[in-house]
Amino acid sequence: MRAPEYRRGSVGEGVLNPPTAPGRLLDLYGEAGLSRTNGTLHLDRVSLPQIADQIGTPVFVYNAEAIRERYRTLHSALAPLPHRICFALKANSNLAVLKILRELGAGVDIVSAGELARALAAGFAADKIVFSGVGKTRNELQAAVKAQIGHLNLESPEELELLGRVAEHERRRVHVGIRVNPDVTTDTHPYISTGKSGIKFGLPTDQVLPAAEYILRHPWLELTTLAMHLGSQIVDTEPFLQGIARLTELVRGVRSIGVDTLRVLDIGGGLGIRYAEERSIDPVDFAAAIIPRLAPTGLTIYLEPGRFLVGSAGVLLTRVLYRKHSGGKEFVVVDAGMNDLVRPSHYQAYHEIVELEERGRPSVRADVVGPVCETGDFLALDRMLPGLQSGDGLAILGAGAYGFVMASNYNSRVRPAEVIVDGDRWWVARPRERVEDLFSTERLAP
Ligand SMILES: Cc1ncc(COP(=O)(O)O)c(C=O)c1O
Repeated sequence: MRAPEYRRGSVGEGVLNPPTAPGRLLDLYGEAGLSRTNGTLHLDRVSLPQIADQIGTPVFVYNAEAIRERYRTLHSALAPLPHRICFALKANSNLAVLKILRELGAGVDIVSAGELARALAAGFAADKIVFSGVGKTRNELQAAVKAQIGHLNLESPEELELLGRVAEHERRRVHVGIRVNPDVTTDTHPYISTGKSGIKFGLPTDQVLPAAEYILRHPWLELTTLAMHLGSQIVDTEPFLQGIARLTELVRGVRSIGVDTLRVLDIGGGLGIRYAEERSIDPVDFAAAIIPRLAPTGLTIYLEPGRFLVGSAGVLLTRVLYRKHSGGKEFVVVDAGMNDLVRPSHYQAYHEIVELEERGRPSVRADVVGPVCETGDFLALDRMLPGLQSGDGLAILGAGAYGFVMASNYNSRVRPAEVIVDGDRWWVARPRERVEDLFSTERLAP
């Protein structure tokens, strides 16, 4: 049996068995709006076993009130600054989730034409949409220009020239942001670290002034924004302060060459949440640290949080199919796999797993694995769990961000349903895919 150590490394997360103290579990419950009544797990006032029974498993369930709570906390912490919170739609793009955030006044951060269409379908005003991303196509730039979105964050000189041509062609004045790569190191998983020199994102600082000059001279482009996004699941404020220092220096530089159109400083997303025993960013402390550095710019501050707003508010419900014993190890085979929640396999991410009904059986150390034909298809490794039996329901916590949106049809598995809980009400916000959906557009011959 492998040693039950908790792998930390640069990942800050791990699939092995960290000692999630009971108090921490209560914190996770609190952030999600989870509670137990007579051993039955509830999300807000709705019984999760009831959803699992009626909708089947696997199913993602999101707590509307927990999302609202996160938004309001961040919004009020930032109140001393003119600001806008643009939800990074990539974290969870279900229209019902988007509606919850839109109704609170959020804007939205998108990275593709598909996300633009979703944002508009969810009713976001075009001027509250920010378009980021390193590889926007001509069609995507054109769609954004036609929709007259708030601004586009550009990431390379060639993209800037292309946008200039599109703007001229459409005869529309376009608001542009330059996404800066501030060369800041973050202690997060390398796959989600995006603000360091030598990775594909943003413009290196020495290319920012030439880009600003290009925009200044262009008749159809207007530089409104300097932007950064350092990465995801960042649990320290320090990298933000470093990035903000680079951005504010560039604000001075850009203004010194005659740009008088700057209105926004976009400090990106990346605020980390708690999955186990790690720290998470406290929005009040975060705001208190950044406000004095940002206020002197006189600019409106944009944030693009994704995970922070929705991550803790979602759970993935699954059911035990089989128990097996092999090679001296215990396995719990469940009906959710890496195609439903890829984070454990892809990022070695740790997700707490709890029973839907507490049964008080003695604990067992086991790997929780899915049905997909990959050895890397696991949800937990070497995890102490209550003795589980076929048919038992489980909730995988912290599954509201980068869960369903990263789900795939690998192994021709249908993607799960998505459910919203709001107080004592709940509804299916997206039904489970049907098997026929998987191949309905395929053709056997020309
Ligand atoms: C440009 C941009 N903004 C915001 C985010 C959201 O990050 P997070 O969910 O960590 O807040 C991302 C995530 O990749 C991103 O690429």
